[in-house]
Amino acid sequence: MDFLKNLGIKEKNFGSSTGLKWNETTSEGELKIYSPATGEYIASVYQASDADYENVIKTAEEAFKYWRKVPAPKRGEIVRQIGDKLRKYKHDLGQLVSFEMGKSLQEGLGEVQEMIDICDFAVGQSRQLYGFTMHSERPNHRMYDQYHPLGIVCTISAFNFPVAVWSWNAMLAAVCGDVNLWKPASKVPLSAIACQNIVQEVIKENNLPEGIFNLIIGKGSTIGEKILNDKRIPLVSVTGSTAVGRHAAEVIAKRFGRAILELGGNNAIIITPDADLKLAIPAVVFGAVGTAGQRCTTTRRLIIHESIYEQVKESLVKAYKSLRIGNPLDPKNHVGPLIDKNAVEDFKKALVRVVEEGGKIIFGGEVLQGEQYKSGLYVVPALVEAENHYTIVQEETFAPILYLIKYKGDVRNAIELQNSVVQGLSSSIFTNNLREAEIFLSAEGSDCGIANINIGTSGAEIGGAFGGEKETGGGRESGSDAWKAYMRRQTNTINYGTDLPLAQGIKFEI
Ligand code: UN1
Repeated sequence: MDFLKNLGIKEKNFGSSTGLKWNETTSEGELKIYSPATGEYIASVYQASDADYENVIKTAEEAFKYWRKVPAPKRGEIVRQIGDKLRKYKHDLGQLVSFEMGKSLQEGLGEVQEMIDICDFAVGQSRQLYGFTMHSERPNHRMYDQYHPLGIVCTISAFNFPVAVWSWNAMLAAVCGDVNLWKPASKVPLSAIACQNIVQEVIKENNLPEGIFNLIIGKGSTIGEKILNDKRIPLVSVTGSTAVGRHAAEVIAKRFGRAILELGGNNAIIITPDADLKLAIPAVVFGAVGTAGQRCTTTRRLIIHESIYEQVKESLVKAYKSLRIGNPLDPKNHVGPLIDKNAVEDFKKALVRVVEEGGKIIFGGEVLQGEQYKSGLYVVPALVEAENHYTIVQEETFAPILYLIKYKGDVRNAIELQNSVVQGLSSSIFTNNLREAEIFLSAEGSDCGIANINIGTSGAEIGGAFGGEKETGGGRESGSDAWKAYMRRQTNTINYGTDLPLAQGIKFEI
């Protein structure tokens, strides 16, 4: 496994770094990492201690004093170099992501490509941290807004995107003049260590100080709680379940910190009688089984017009039969394993519950046995006929289960079903009917942060703002003007005259 060596992953790794330096704590227990693909042991990580955390924060605070004064385009140049290193290590890192997390190699490489893309985007953004200028009502006065760096920005990332979500946050934050702290999910710390090693090369080559890119691997209950409560961290970006996000939001709000929340999705695709099924079927299959149903943008519900329901169902069963399930590092396979035993249990339980509520499993649902599946984490993606109001359909089960739901009549009925869940991340409609497409995108249409026409719910490009409404948390990351969340806005009024006129015409004579 050359990729481990190439990325500097050792048998035993330390759990926190301020840049070039790693802590050397070994007293807080080891995380032993096994590949969900093969069940084999990969390496271990010593978790960081409270003292390591303090050290990281103090170093980051010092680094911020330096970094905030580096001109933004020069910060962009550092991010450009990180993008170049990621190009160099793309194949190694893609393989590690696939091996540690279990997504297909194609998707592992795609995830690294998203990192490269956000680096390019952030480099351009570094010259475009624009504020408005306003015309003052007072003579000889000028007004404008400007954006300043915030301070330490912490990204708490989830297991399903072990590296990309960090980069969406960290690369934008870096060009914005913030210093970064990353707490990766404890299932996938090796991918994070590999990224830290890649960034280290750039830090070294540019003689940058410690503390600009920091990593901390430790328990959610200790280190995670410290981060949420820490006033020295003005912004925390959290990707995870709605339950995790709700707690984080409450704690961060109490101290008036800012949060970017990317939480659960319960994404639907609507297929209307005017859909082009040649496009719709592959989009649905990729959306439902890609990353083994463990993307927050995974297609979980399919809302099909009754007139084409049987046809769509048959096409899907046929497509699902041709799926190759197996080792994600083998590029022939479409579907890899789930992340762990709990995920397999959740998959099985959801299928039991949907049947109890009246649903019907029409394909899949088995846990695969045998030598090539010896990690015990491979499942056959399931197709289930269900109704939208079932409690299990209302929940996000992080596994490849697609609920087929029928609608009658107008497209508004389908939109009503689509919006009748607590989550609001991604949504799509397949139709060639202009009226239906425009209604879907209108104010009475999809209530999600992402709404697509004739493409699926997952696989968003980094150029758009990424995030969702309702219990998805409301945050936006990545492209468009998401960068503004990583800076503080200041309004400036400058008087270059010899009088002191007050606003609103107020007279105050002394
Ligand atoms: C996630 O699952 O946390 O749109 C993010 C997509 C990816 C991001 C998913 N670009 O599928």
